[in-house]
Amino acid sequence: MSSKSLITNPQRLPLVGASILSADFAHLADDAEAALDAGADLLHVDVMDGHFAPNLTLGPALCRSLHNALPDAMLDVHLMVSDPSMFVEHFANAGADHITFHIEAAGDVLSLVQEIRKQDMTAGLALNPDTNVSTIMQFIEHVDLVLVMSVNPGFSGQSFITGALDTVRMIKPLLRDNQRLQMDGGVSSKTSADCREAGCDILVAGSGIFDTSDYAESIESIRGLSKALTQR
Ligand code: DX5
Ligand code: ZN
Repeated sequence: MSSKSLITNPQRLPLVGASILSADFAHLADDAEAALDAGADLLHVDVMDGHFAPNLTLGPALCRSLHNALPDAMLDVHLMVSDPSMFVEHFANAGADHITFHIEAAGDVLSLVQEIRKQDMTAGLALNPDTNVSTIMQFIEHVDLVLVMSVNPGFSGQSFITGALDTVRMIKPLLRDNQRLQMDGGVSSKTSADCREAGCDILVAGSGIFDTSDYAESIESIRGLSKALTQR
C-alpha cells in the first residue's frame, strides 16, 4: 500500500479532500498546494471520459505533473469512465495513491480491486445517487473505501442530493474500522454536518473550497472544526 494511505488512523478523521476540478487549471499546482497548505488532507482527481460522464476532464499526464510538483500530496483518483481497467496502470505510474471506480461501469469488480492493489494503491467502489445500494452489497467487504455520490457525475458546483445521506446510513454499519466512507458532490460548509452525522469520514469538496475566499476556513468548517460558516 502507498505510504500516503487514505486508510488513516481514526483520530485524524474526518479527512477533507480538495476536488481539483474546481481549481484554476492555469495555476493548478499553486492552487492545489494552497488547498493543502490550508488543511486539505488529499487531492481528489476527477477523471471523466465523455462516455460514463458528460464531461472530459483530467488524465494520467496531469496526475503525473501534479505528483511531480507536489510529491507529498495524497492523490485520490476518481474514475468516471466506461472502462476503468484501462486506466489503473497508467494512474499508478502517474503517482496515484488510491483509485475509486464506479459499480455502474465495472466489469469484474473483484479483479479490478486486485489489479489496483497489485499496483500498490488502495481501491474504492463508487455508486451514483440513483443506483440501488443492493448492487454493491456483496463487494463492500472487499474494498478499502465506498464512495457515495451526492451529485450525478459530470461537473463541480451542482446541488447536493440529500437522498445520498440515506445510502450512507445504510452502508456505514457494514464497514470495518479500516474502511472509509467518502461523500462527493455538493459538499460544503453548509452540507458537511449532515454528511458527518450520517457517517462519512472523507468529505470531498470542489467549489466548497476553491470557489471560496478563505480555503482554510472552508476546510475547517467542512471538517467540523469551525462554526463560523455553518451559522451564516
Ligand atoms: C462530480 C465530481 C466531484 C465534483 C465535486 O462529478 O466527482 O468530485 O468535482 O465538486 P463540488 O464539490 O463543487 O460538487
Ligand atoms: Zn469526484
